[in-house]
Amino acid sequence: MKLTILGGGGFRVPLVYGALLTDRAEGRVTEVVLHDLDDSRLYAVAKVLEEQAARVPDAPKVTATTDLDEALRGADFVFSAIRVGGLEGRAHDERVALAEGVLGQETVGAGGIAYGLRTVPVAVDIARRVARLAPDAWVINFTNPAGLVTEAMSRHLGDRVIGICDSPVGLGRRIARVLGADPKEAWIDYVGLNHLGWVRGLRVAGRDELPRLLADPDLLGSFEEGKLFGVDWLRSLGAIPNEYLHYYYFNREAVRAYQQAEKTRGAFLADQQARFYEEMKRPDAAALTTWDRTRAEREATYMAENRETAGAGERDADDLSGGYEKVALALMRAIARDERTTLILNVRNQGTLSVLDTDAVIEVPCLVDANGAHPVAVAPLPEHATGLVCAVKGVEREVLAAAESGSRTTAVKAFALHPLVDSVNVARRLVEGYTDVHPGLAYLK
Ligand code: G6P
Ligand code: MN
Repeated sequence: MKLTILGGGGFRVPLVYGALLTDRAEGRVTEVVLHDLDDSRLYAVAKVLEEQAARVPDAPKVTATTDLDEALRGADFVFSAIRVGGLEGRAHDERVALAEGVLGQETVGAGGIAYGLRTVPVAVDIARRVARLAPDAWVINFTNPAGLVTEAMSRHLGDRVIGICDSPVGLGRRIARVLGADPKEAWIDYVGLNHLGWVRGLRVAGRDELPRLLADPDLLGSFEEGKLFGVDWLRSLGAIPNEYLHYYYFNREAVRAYQQAEKTRGAFLADQQARFYEEMKRPDAAALTTWDRTRAEREATYMAENRETAGAGERDADDLSGGYEKVALALMRAIARDERTTLILNVRNQGTLSVLDTDAVIEVPCLVDANGAHPVAVAPLPEHATGLVCAVKGVEREVLAAAESGSRTTAVKAFALHPLVDSVNVARRLVEGYTDVHPGLAYLK
């Protein structure tokens, strides 16, 4: 089986390859094609993969190319993990927004809109090429903002594109753990959009254990979301929000913390990763060790500003292992080998949330088998959550419309309608600011 990874020179590709190396079963991936626009990044990552594969018998063969069409031909699965504009672009997304006093984050608020506006045209081009060159391939989208980008691609690929994120899985795992339950045996009642969802229940042996957690302040305050949101707020909500909702519920504090930080997340990662790729150019570089050290530092500092404003302290050691590569592998196995399983994925709504139309991509538990991912019916969201979900989906639709038409006016509308952008004038200046710094937004007229 052939797996093509777009953004194949990306830093997190070794996580995916490491997961593939653990798969010994019949029908596993035997061939990995890395595609990237940048040769030197491909070279660096290939070096890490080579060290990972040493001593593993029958490790999947790795090739690399900068030719997109060549990479796509004959692929059974395509992982799309691109970063349009690179981490420098991410840093610009943050800076322009923060200068206007609004959130600059790669997936939430103004920063997410800017990143979406840059990424959607590229993702659509990829989707069109996949439809032409590898019509039977399944596309697993990792690219952020994942829900929006998946929806853009689904307009060309239908249900053959599925978006993934590790944050709902991580959240479910943490809740199960504090309740003393086995995450594999728990049913996690989670729904929303990507980075905008809530756990409303967690069933073990047919019983909802979430009320037990909400009733116990010590348990509730003992894990990441409890520390981030605070026990009282979680009890008021009666649900556990995805960590990204911290940017909504504590927006003022998050914006201030990001403004005061020495470096934004994007700027920090841009420097950190530049050092890694530079190091990989040395012939004697210890590729795997250097990569792993860099990865550990990246994970330890994830959402550091949010945790600091909440006084949440360091991340739990158990939360440092990431996990989105595991979601991707489980999804690929379920489809390729009809290994039926349940995963929280970004798929078309198809009536799951009655307030959204059938084509809206949502994040929801899905049954997965050889026929793809099938969203499971869920209880409706409470009004406050429905309001946010509908507002943000409305914004995503404006982003998609702007990307399709190239209309600057529509781009302004997207920013202005976001709940975290507080004035139409701010939206206008954001479009000015972003088009000034991003060549990838030159299409907006
Ligand atoms: C989480 C999110 C991802 C994000 C990742 C890395 O896993 O769900 O969408 O890409 O964190 O964030 P970072 O700030 O390290 O790039
Ligand atoms: Mn994510």
